[in-house]
Amino acid sequence: MKKIGVLTSGGDSPGMNPAIRAVVRKAIFHNVEVYGIYGGYTGLISGNIKKLELGSVGDIIHRGGTMLHTARCPEFKTPEGQQKGIEQLKAHGIEGLVVIGGDGSYRGARALTQHGYPCIGVPGTIDNDIPGTEVTIGFDTALNTVIDALDKIRDTATSHERTFVIEVMGRDAGDLALYAGLAGGAETILIPEEGYDMAEVTDRLRKGQERGKKHSIIIVAEGVCNGNDFAKQLKEATNFDTRVSVLGHIQRGGSPTAADRVLASRLGARAVELLIEGKGGRAVGIEKNSLVDYDIVEALERKHKLDLDLVKLSKELSI
Ligand code: F6P
Repeated sequence: MKKIGVLTSGGDSPGMNPAIRAVVRKAIFHNVEVYGIYGGYTGLISGNIKKLELGSVGDIIHRGGTMLHTARCPEFKTPEGQQKGIEQLKAHGIEGLVVIGGDGSYRGARALTQHGYPCIGVPGTIDNDIPGTEVTIGFDTALNTVIDALDKIRDTATSHERTFVIEVMGRDAGDLALYAGLAGGAETILIPEEGYDMAEVTDRLRKGQERGKKHSIIIVAEGVCNGNDFAKQLKEATNFDTRVSVLGHIQRGGSPTAADRVLASRLGARAVELLIEGKGGRAVGIEKNSLVDYDIVEALERKHKLDLDLVKLSKELSI
């Protein structure tokens, strides 16, 4: 393989830049040319493709976002869109593609693989919900962003003896809410995988109050309920002085943590190795701190599993 491409797709995540850097530098180290595809699958379809050099990825290791930009591309879900993408890759002589993104991006990479085009999926999303890896690029940074906000909110919650509802991202996956709740000592964590029972939530909060708790923090993953709606229901059911903070897209930005930079460097470089070895149609990941790769079709058929022990632990510790 003498020419490969790299793109980022879907919601950005901190660590995509170090992953791009790793792909480019590893490929050039092995005398393989690298082409950056700008704007995800949208840029692939329109041919927004430029050659990248060693210097193109200088000074990005510490930056959030993605220098290649990203997009959600409905057209690439269609066979016609996929065909246009393949034509662009062929026109540029690009023989293999590294796709950095979440599950939607993986589905695009799977489609290209099924059309016979070698692709490698690299898991990049703050949601941590990609099968075939224990952790995704961006999760650690987003988690630390949430914790930073939560600690600050805790200060004012204590001063005013208030209940705070903090809404975090996670449409289908509760990892961010769960880990943040555990690391931030939240009283209640609501995740899409479990749903919630308002009577149970208020009962827990009341018991805490009776034991002398002056404030409470409730983490709500956006996929389970809108934070403002939840706070409204809570106010109706109790007399708690309640405030809401919706953290929103600040969770997607910021300089990647050291853990995310290392993870991104390892996964990006491994993706290139696989293409060089002629192994297309794989998804790379990390398990027990070792690099792994799975057939991308199989990887998508697996289900990301929430750590149920952590759910149990969070309940035991937040009494
Ligand atoms: O998939 C990552 C994610 O940040 C989800 O947690 C969130 O629901 C979604 O993207 C938001 O997407 P957008 O930025 O397109 O509104």
